[in-house]
Amino acid sequence: MCKPQKSGILVLEKQNLMNKTKILVTGGLGFIGSHTVVELIQSGLEPIIVDDLSNSELFILDRIEQITGSRPKFYPYDVCDSDKLKTVFSENKNIKACIHFAAKKAVGESMKIPLVYYRTNLVSLLNVLETMKEFNADCFVFSSSATVYGQPEHLPANESSPLQKATSSYGSTKQMAEDILEKVSATGSLKTLSLRYFNPVGAHQSALIGELPKGIPNNLMPFVTQTAIGIREKLTVFGNDYNTPDGTCIRDYIHVVDLAKAHVNACNYLLTHADSISYDVFNIGTGKGISVLEIVSAFEEVNKVKVPYIIGSRRDGDVESIYASCSKANQILKWEAQYTLEDMVKDAWNWEKAYRKHTK
Ligand SMILES: NC(=O)c1ccc[n+]([C@@H]2O[C@H](COP(=O)([O-])OP(=O)(O)OC[C@H]3O[C@@H](n4cnc5c(N)ncnc54)[C@H](O)[C@@H]3O)[C@@H](O)[C@H]2O)c1
Repeated sequence: MCKPQKSGILVLEKQNLMNKTKILVTGGLGFIGSHTVVELIQSGLEPIIVDDLSNSELFILDRIEQITGSRPKFYPYDVCDSDKLKTVFSENKNIKACIHFAAKKAVGESMKIPLVYYRTNLVSLLNVLETMKEFNADCFVFSSSATVYGQPEHLPANESSPLQKATSSYGSTKQMAEDILEKVSATGSLKTLSLRYFNPVGAHQSALIGELPKGIPNNLMPFVTQTAIGIREKLTVFGNDYNTPDGTCIRDYIHVVDLAKAHVNACNYLLTHADSISYDVFNIGTGKGISVLEIVSAFEEVNKVKVPYIIGSRRDGDVESIYASCSKANQILKWEAQYTLEDMVKDAWNWEKAYRKHTK
């Protein structure tokens, strides 16, 4: 209780701030990280961001403040630098949990520079885990990926579907990370939830934050938006001879804000069930398979804009079809995707237009 005084409201506010649960968010200025930081703030948690800006921009921090009215603490550090990471924990007593987004994520690039991928994605993980142990933080949420499943024999993929041997170095870092986390968590010093994301798309409804690919986008949606706005001449659809209804690949696209909310639920679950968890895995998707051509036509229809495309040959490493069973996350994390395909394509387009205006 605060003593009533002239500055009583201020004291209360300060105390409130001091009592917020601190969550370290590595990679918190990236695509999924920035949306998650917004949701954490809006649900009363206190994110502390570490991001080396290798694949993000500092202005995203201003945008987070614009959306939430609160500017999170930010450290422009490489998480592979363990001394810097220790500084963050020393300066912010009582960090309870970490959401670890920081990683390199381009599948194709990972085949060209595998050592960089193994170093960044694994050394960063080990550093975070060792530092958390030193500072008694024991709740961990990991950014895993549907890529660990490869092409499942049965769809939808559920958390018990067997993992296929990774075809890329990127996929291999996610499988290795899951393995490390399961074994470390089994010692009792760590509680971990690995979230296997399907295909995040869309952007915040404010159009203030969204996906910011550097160079030629690897993912479908930013390629679609950049083509629609005229930066790319046309979209290449990689193969229309798959065994799917329209011949193009099928994925489970999820709105990034839904994905961000799943992290808030995961943190709250870890913080409130600390004694009963060691390691668990959850699919985070919508449960619906959507083809590449369905994305293109939904985009054109909702946004009233053309996306010129050609059919190219299949791309190495692409699986034919994958979508998630999310019933485990529905039941245990009390989380369910809310946004529709229309929301995804509309928000992605609004973000692209707003971003291009800002950079003109
Ligand atoms: N976007 C997807 O399609 C997708 C799908 C499945 C899993 N994931 C995983 O989710 C996580 C976040 O993905 P995203 O799409 O937001 O990527 P992103 O590149 O937008 O965000 C990653 C952030 O981490 C930062 N970062 C990278 N290496 C760092 C380091 N060593 N130290 C500090 N910061 C560092 C980058 O600057 C960037 O801001 C990644 O682990 C990725 O593998 C992404």
